[in-house]
Amino acid sequence: MKATPLRKYAIVVAGIAVAFGFFVAMSVAPTGVQAQTTIIAVPDVAPLPPAPFTDARIVNIGRQMYFDKLLAADGQQGCKLCHDPKLGWAHDKQISPGYPGTMHFRNSQSTINTAFRDGGYLGQTGLWGGLSAAIQYKWSSAYFLARDGRLVVQVWRAFPGYMNMWKEVYGHMPSFPTMRDSLVEFTKTIVSKDVPMDAFIQGNDEAMSAMAKNGLNLFKGKARCILCHNGALLSNEKFHNLMVPKNPIVDIDPLMQVARRFEFRNLATPGNDVWCRGNVPDLVDYQPQPCSQGREPMFDMGHMTVTKDWDDLHKFKTAMLRDVSRTPPYGHNGMMGSSLEEVVEFYNKGGGAMWQPTHVHFAKMVKDPQIKPLGLTTGERADLVAFLDEGLTGSEFVVETVIAFPPPQPRPVQSSLMYETNWTHLKSDKYGKGEAIDTLHGHK
Ligand code: HEC
Ligand code: HEC
Repeated sequence: MKATPLRKYAIVVAGIAVAFGFFVAMSVAPTGVQAQTTIIAVPDVAPLPPAPFTDARIVNIGRQMYFDKLLAADGQQGCKLCHDPKLGWAHDKQISPGYPGTMHFRNSQSTINTAFRDGGYLGQTGLWGGLSAAIQYKWSSAYFLARDGRLVVQVWRAFPGYMNMWKEVYGHMPSFPTMRDSLVEFTKTIVSKDVPMDAFIQGNDEAMSAMAKNGLNLFKGKARCILCHNGALLSNEKFHNLMVPKNPIVDIDPLMQVARRFEFRNLATPGNDVWCRGNVPDLVDYQPQPCSQGREPMFDMGHMTVTKDWDDLHKFKTAMLRDVSRTPPYGHNGMMGSSLEEVVEFYNKGGGAMWQPTHVHFAKMVKDPQIKPLGLTTGERADLVAFLDEGLTGSEFVVETVIAFPPPQPRPVQSSLMYETNWTHLKSDKYGKGEAIDTLHGHK
């Protein structure tokens, strides 16, 4: 784009504004024909606030639970299935796994710094909002941990280890709300520490290399990242459509489609009944037809699944970026890139391509006008990556080991007479199924 006098003026204003801790950006109409200038003030980057207050005793319980495989219905998985500390508290596949026999249809988001988030990843508010609701949903949903919230309470009560923890901390037996709150309290401690950028903006000039420092300047200037990745979280917590490409695997894998349909139907997303695929598995085949008979919604409608507002179509929440080097692949479906170099290239090209052909229902499918080609040189791209990687990666996460609780013991039989009596009545002809029950329980 040619530097018009207006543009030069905007850059000068930006220069002055940076001194005041604000960045001023010039945005050009998407057509780019006429340089239509608006000055947008966005907050500067800021250090991460102190970790939220947590009660150490409750965190202990939560940690024990987070890694306990009994969290899942089959007693074989915990949150770690999709949020593994060794994988940046996320997962290294484009699409998250699901409970055995299911798959998710999105990338597993890291739980790092989610404590600071207001509302959910897709902007759920109210009943849907906040860590507590997100975790409750994860825990009991069929394609996450599939755990019946009533049953799991009884499982916990079978363990003297948990019973003691609860008695000491909560003063009563495990209950569903206290179990969920303990998980939340632990999740709140998964917070970035010693991030070089934070030290740098607080005055430690040594904290970042020359490359990363230049990367930060680009981040706030030419590369325009700060338009959305700003403030203390490096996220404006708003929703944007970057035209991240569809992940073709989601349209092929039946289990991923099952999860997607399940979620969209649960949320009563209107598009679910508008954009469905007929028989030709091809983008050309967008048809406004009902999603019955196994037809699939064609793409992830993003924030719109929550708001039902067509203007939110295919918008996703701006990602927080501290410790982002730990969590490839990137984007809601892993399609922004498998490395930070690829993500920078994605933005350098001006985001993803618009999908073709344009169907009448795509009228609301608009790429965010703030996303456009950046013209970064090879050196500038390397500097930006250095900032995202070295500048934003904090110290290692140390996870204290959890205790292995002894398994619950069978309760002692109180009276052999009672035992016999119980079984005798089941064995009587009157019930007629003594044999079957005997075999089932292994009592011969
Ligand atoms: C089967 C995979 C899977 C399991 C198991 C799982 N998660 Fe998640 N989690 C995800 C995915 C995928 C996302 C992001 C996409 C979404 O929410 O649809 C996510 C998002 C989150 C978020 C961010 C929420 C938000 O809305 O910002 C938190 C916090 C979280 N999970 C915590 C947990 C905890 C705690 C557990 C264990 C009780 C857990 N998760 C179990 C896959 C999983
Ligand atoms: C118009 C707003 C906007 C601008 C400008 C922007 N981003 Fe983003 N960024 C987002 C959104 C929204 C997402 C989440 C996209 C998704 O999940 O599909 C995201 C995701 C990312 C991710 C992936 C994080 C993850 O964990 O998956 C990285 C890395 C990133 N941005 C870096 C940058 C950099 C570097 C720049 C500047 C070159 C930039 N962004 C400019 C809005 C923006």
